[in-house]
Amino acid sequence: MVIKRIYLVGFMGSGKSTLGKRLRTEIGWDFLDLDDYFEERYQITIKQYFAEFGEDAFRLAEKELLLDVSQKERIIIATGGGAPCYFNNMQVMNDTGLTIYIKLSVETLAGRLCSARQVRPLVAGKSGTELHQYIEEKLQERDGFYNQAKVIADGEV
Ligand code: S3P
Repeated sequence: MVIKRIYLVGFMGSGKSTLGKRLRTEIGWDFLDLDDYFEERYQITIKQYFAEFGEDAFRLAEKELLLDVSQKERIIIATGGGAPCYFNNMQVMNDTGLTIYIKLSVETLAGRLCSARQVRPLVAGKSGTELHQYIEEKLQERDGFYNQAKVIADGEV
């Protein structure tokens, strides 16, 4: 099978964009961050979008964009943390490219998200035990989707 695109999946703060940019340099493909693409397309921040239209509307719009980018070639796509977990998005990605799950522990994610949570509506305002507990529960809910990726990479190393 010829690989035409790479999808990076994983929880918020797992380093999908950082790895994506590194891969862009390594393999010379384009790089696209699905969240940035969303904000450019709709001319609104994701935080504002959640506040105005709610999460369900966001998931629908996110899916449309995923279908759109699944047509692009020679591209590395950093997906939003929730993208693989709605509709048949994980299957779309597995059918159209190489999926890589960047797996990290709750502790590491909590540490990273603590300093970068305000732009992320799902964790904005949470800290300490509340943040840790939220990540633990959400990760448990999402792990089954992330684990459908073709490659599981240990993000701790
Ligand atoms: C989300 C993750 C975010 C963004 C939105 C929802 C999620 O992307 O799509 O805030 O549901 O986990 P990052 O994983 O790039 O932070």
